[in-house]
Amino acid sequence: MVKTIDWTDGKVVMLDQSRLPIEVVYVECENYLKVAEGIKKLWIRGAPAIGIATAMGVALAAQDIDADGYEGFIRKLEPVLETFLATRPTAVNIHWAVERLRAFLNRRRNETVQKLKELLIEEARKILDEDIQINRAIGLWGAQFINDGDAILTHCNAGSLATGGYGTATAPMLVAREQGKKFSVFADETRPVLQGARLTAWELMQEGITVTLITDNAAGALMKRGEINLAIVGTDRTVLNGDVANKIGTYTVAVMCKEHSIPFYVAAPLSSIDFSIPSGDLIPIEERGSEEVTHIFGTLRIAPEGVQVRNLAFDVTPARYVTAIVTEKGAFRPSDLKALARGDADIEKLRITLKK
Ligand code: MRU
Repeated sequence: MVKTIDWTDGKVVMLDQSRLPIEVVYVECENYLKVAEGIKKLWIRGAPAIGIATAMGVALAAQDIDADGYEGFIRKLEPVLETFLATRPTAVNIHWAVERLRAFLNRRRNETVQKLKELLIEEARKILDEDIQINRAIGLWGAQFINDGDAILTHCNAGSLATGGYGTATAPMLVAREQGKKFSVFADETRPVLQGARLTAWELMQEGITVTLITDNAAGALMKRGEINLAIVGTDRTVLNGDVANKIGTYTVAVMCKEHSIPFYVAAPLSSIDFSIPSGDLIPIEERGSEEVTHIFGTLRIAPEGVQVRNLAFDVTPARYVTAIVTEKGAFRPSDLKALARGDADIEKLRITLKK
């Protein structure tokens, strides 16, 4: 399985995904600014992976802080947290990681600064390990939706590369394969920066899963021909009413699925669910530079100089298009997220379990 990010010899080491699949290059980050740059420039991307990178970047910054006690340490760490919060606005995992570390430190006010530094490294590594376990659980709950002979559509990259390992949307595929099911995957190329073509196709091929690359505008036609049975995508932020923010083009896929009565599943670790936001209309949507649209790989111009560009990186799929949200605790109807958030729900009753 491809290693996305790790903490090695006091540095954060990340695979530079912007160069895949042409080159497989790992970047060593010796300071937190380089980690933040990596997130901004998409060396590392995918909501859970940038949450992990944030935690590791904060741990890295902490090692250089000179402070006498807890208060001074926190005061110096705060601008670091703000730097990460300002990198990418849509993926809630960055906020999730920052809040987790804030709460973690707050419970350890009596520790020495040296101990806090060590504990932050441990916690960041724990976040990475937990992410892999969470994805495996998503896979176990999600594999029930994959049948022998299915052709699964996925959009963008919600695979190992987008996480600590195993992926979210790819986890049900990996588990279904372990269960002996035979299926194939259609990967949308995912303009503008081609995470589907460059990353999903690459990593599924490495896994030995049959994958067919299609242009983004081909999915509808293939659905009409009966060549796609289900869609599984990831999410950058799913909110209380079940609305789902994910890579631009996901909304189009979901609408086409509804038109063709094809189930549309969202694989979402709880770290990507923002229970504080009531509706998808309130999710901040990242807009990126025009060169992602006017150029391929930042070098080859494919549009006239001076053309106006709008480059929304994400869209929001309303809950009514979502068949189920597959988390590490089970698969749920989007309308049941409110009950989950209240914490008083009988999870067993809410879980969608297909009898086979
Ligand atoms: O811009 P990106 O490449 O970070 O967008 C990633 C996606 O949209 C993924 O589908 C999402 O983060 C889920 S990753 C498990």
